[in-house]
Amino acid sequence: MQSVAVIGAGQMGAGIAQVSAQAGYQVFLSDVELAVAERAKDYIGNVLGRAVSKQKMDVQEAENVLKRIQPVGEYEPMATAGLVIEAATEREDIKRKIFDEVGKVLGHQAVLASNTSSIPITRMAQASPDAERFVGVHFFNPVPVMGLIELICGLATSDETVGKVESYAAAIGKKVVHANDAPGFIVNRILLPMLNEACFALGEGVATIPDIDAAVTLGLNHPMGPLTLADFIGLDTCLHITNVLYSGTGDPKFRAAPILVKYVEAGWLGRKTGKGFYDYSGDAPVPTR
Ligand code: CAA
Repeated sequence: MQSVAVIGAGQMGAGIAQVSAQAGYQVFLSDVELAVAERAKDYIGNVLGRAVSKQKMDVQEAENVLKRIQPVGEYEPMATAGLVIEAATEREDIKRKIFDEVGKVLGHQAVLASNTSSIPITRMAQASPDAERFVGVHFFNPVPVMGLIELICGLATSDETVGKVESYAAAIGKKVVHANDAPGFIVNRILLPMLNEACFALGEGVATIPDIDAAVTLGLNHPMGPLTLADFIGLDTCLHITNVLYSGTGDPKFRAAPILVKYVEAGWLGRKTGKGFYDYSGDAPVPTR
């Protein structure tokens, strides 16, 4: 496989494009508009620039990595890609439309993968041109830092498709874990109940926001406290995945904490809106309760 296409140039898509280009792949990066993909390339340039200034990468290598990333405004150039990774908004209707459109140009041997964190792979495979060549590849944020990919097969995903994704994961230096096509796969099945429980604890007055976070960072050695991490992921995303766990299992233990619902209703979605459990408008985050 020489080239990889990434559809969706948000934080996840940009990260996937960056690590793919660093591994030597030619990368096509697209979004709803060419300008969005071009801005994502500028962002990647800044990330690489920081790596150069920290002497973790030399200037020539950073330039070569950046040259391998080609922002595109349409899907036609992706016809040559061996692997197409969809990393668009977590909405099934949007993803299905993408699969339908990119399916028209997808190479006969190419694999189509979704970076979904919560939508069933077997169901989405129905919108792809070939369910045998459709698979879930779940990356973690920030992609250049996190060492994992969850690989999720649909009912029809072929062994050949799995082999191709495993080779790609090895090339970009990520460890693969295999998860069944079950709600939340592995990581979110475990992570979201913890974040949701931190919200219950906050709502019930067990402790303050900084104390809940300090308890988990210092008491469990997690790099971020659960409320900081929830803000980092996005509270709307946390609520969405929690609801997927709840509806997908029917188990009341997954019901969303009222305070999480409240924050989402307020539009306080975390870092991306500047306010969530913390307010990010100043030099340092300030708790909002
Ligand atoms: N892109 C590239 N590199 C980044 C980065 C980004 N967005 N953010 C941080 N880094 C790099 C920094 O450059 C730095 O690199 P060096 O060590 O080479 O200098 C390194 O990461 C550490 O960064 P910082 O020193 O700035 O900050 P930190 O030590 O506080 O680490 C963190 C930041 C890596 C984000 C760390 O806090 C962490 O690991 N947090 C937990 C993240 C996590 O749990 N992610 C999974 C979320 S769940 C998910 O993604 C899936 C889902 O479906 C919801």
